[in-house]
Amino acid sequence: MMSEHELKSLEITDLRVTFDGFRAVDGVSLRVGPGDLRFLIGPNGAGKTTLVDAVTGLAAAGGSVRFGGNELLGRPVHRIARLGIGRTFQTATVFEKLSVLQNLDIAAGARRPLRTLLRQRRGIPEEVGRALETVGLTADRDRPAGTLAHGKKQWLEIGMLLVQDVQLLLLDEPVAGMSHEEREATGELLRRIGRDRTVVVIEHDMDFLRAFASSVTVLHAGRVLSEGTVAEVQADPRVQEVYLGQPPETVPESVAAATPGVTAEAAAAGGAVEA
Ligand SMILES: Nc1ncnc2c1ncn2[C@@H]1O[C@H](COP(=O)(O)OP(=O)(O)O)[C@@H](O)[C@H]1O
Ligand SMILES: [Mg+2]
Repeated sequence: MMSEHELKSLEITDLRVTFDGFRAVDGVSLRVGPGDLRFLIGPNGAGKTTLVDAVTGLAAAGGSVRFGGNELLGRPVHRIARLGIGRTFQTATVFEKLSVLQNLDIAAGARRPLRTLLRQRRGIPEEVGRALETVGLTADRDRPAGTLAHGKKQWLEIGMLLVQDVQLLLLDEPVAGMSHEEREATGELLRRIGRDRTVVVIEHDMDFLRAFASSVTVLHAGRVLSEGTVAEVQADPRVQEVYLGQPPETVPESVAAATPGVTAEAAAAGGAVEA
């Protein structure tokens, strides 16, 4: 059932989000096709999370966001979710006291009638078993989610989107704080799920990007600065200037924060590769 849906594109046109007159997203247009694993990068404050908030209905926005031809802007959060759109947050939001299986079951329940939720069931629903396998948590299924390592919590959160048959996944810094091994495993997982879904990954880690991105959009100050393959984006002088310009060590955030007139954000915009 999971892979039989038609493959859809995300089309964002002239997206604008304003906070009290401040343009956090300032006319962004981008298209992500099915099977693409698009990385969205950019210095702190570039507008990456706000863009995801706008797509998922959490931030009011102007312009247009279409997925599979449906206009998303102006719809409430739950209606957007029902169109097969899901996101993760920078900090994982799982039910810590419940088991991995129960977390997945509850997520799957969002699609099931209430009475089947309340009924005692024997066995594991097919989509839950499949998601467990895809995210590599089959052996952990009975553990309380709160006892999972950081990386596995993120995988569980991705699994919770898969059981909802999400077709567009927007992942906000999924590998932040992960070990090298967890990053590799997460990259492989994103590749697997990206084959028959549309996946947008916000990430800062350049090694991770080089290893797994199939295309990259660079945001800066709410606008698209550059777009292309990893090689194209890395070769773009504007990207080097804004994002890779100086080695991050040259302006530690703490130093910048203590320097009058230089905000930590400006310092990050100047060269921090990792947030
Ligand atoms: N709810 C909000 N109210 C006011 N300003 C916000 C809000 N959310 C984000 N911003 C501002 O919008 C800009 C973009 O933020 P964000 O999308 O979180 O950046 P990124 O995820 O790229 O680091 C930042 O300058 C941030 O301070
Ligand atoms: Mg962010």
